[in-house]
Amino acid sequence: MLATYRSYHGATAGSITATGDPRRWPNEPGMPGIVHFWGPYPYRSAFHARTEAEECERALQHLRDVIAFEGPSTIAALILETVVGTNGILVPPDGYLAGVREICDEHGIVWIADEVMAGFGRCGEWFAVDRWDVTPDLICFAKGVNSGYVPIGGVVISAAIAETFERRVFPGGLTYSGHPLACASAVASIRIFEEEGILENVRKVSDTVVAPRLAELAERHPSVGEVRGLGFFWALELVRDRGTREPLVPFNASGEAAGPMNEFAGACKEQGLWPFVHFNRTHVVPPCTTTADEMAEGLDMLDRALEVADRFTA
Ligand SMILES: Cc1ncc(COP(=O)(O)O)c(C=O)c1O
Repeated sequence: MLATYRSYHGATAGSITATGDPRRWPNEPGMPGIVHFWGPYPYRSAFHARTEAEECERALQHLRDVIAFEGPSTIAALILETVVGTNGILVPPDGYLAGVREICDEHGIVWIADEVMAGFGRCGEWFAVDRWDVTPDLICFAKGVNSGYVPIGGVVISAAIAETFERRVFPGGLTYSGHPLACASAVASIRIFEEEGILENVRKVSDTVVAPRLAELAERHPSVGEVRGLGFFWALELVRDRGTREPLVPFNASGEAAGPMNEFAGACKEQGLWPFVHFNRTHVVPPCTTTADEMAEGLDMLDRALEVADRFTA
């Protein structure tokens, strides 16, 4: 199975081995047979690409090369976060997911889209893949499907894969599989998404408040190297120097080495804003019900906290 670096897929044995970040390290050796490759990341391109189109083309060629050397017939599946979450809100360049679909079809590889974070409104769509009009073979979902009221996660299964279970029973079971209360909460939540226009809210507030306001913060604060995202799913990458793109703190920093990010987070919390901070990034990922006024209030706090990060720039 192929998975990308800069990914998180969960904490059970298989999914932590698929994970492409330091959370996997203490779990190694994990499930055998998982190989990691680089996905697209234009701001810190593994392929020395200068444009999104170049990044897309080179990332797809890299994937083809990995498949060729691993042996296409040995690969059952490829798992991707449609938009990478914890590891940086990495939005795939246009054409990347269509290219992945094509490569998977060519080699009979099942494409699993992990939309545990990106799905159910986060990207302004029911499923993030809808944004690029592509269809994976499996879609994993959880979190947003019921706004987290009770634990539930699931997998959307394509007709072709579902059909195998008509002939062959899936030999697994869990105490709480298909729990009626959890499923009812998901159905109720989906109805509310429709009734209250949640996807429309995400798109509107994203376009009118989040995108323009974050672009403006990026322009004004020297610590902001890049702002990227879509819907209610955004990252600010903080740097010491915009020219060199040196991260504000090193990769996987903790303790004293993470000082500047901790000070930034402290400045958010003092104002009543609870930030998500990961390595040298902070993410803007509020509830999908957030109004334009609430969003503006939160971004004002972020603006003030970024002044603390600015102090660490060259
Ligand atoms: C992208 C992604 N995939 C998978 C998971 C794991 O989901 P669960 O905790 O429901 O197993 C998470 C959880 O944080 C996630 O963010």
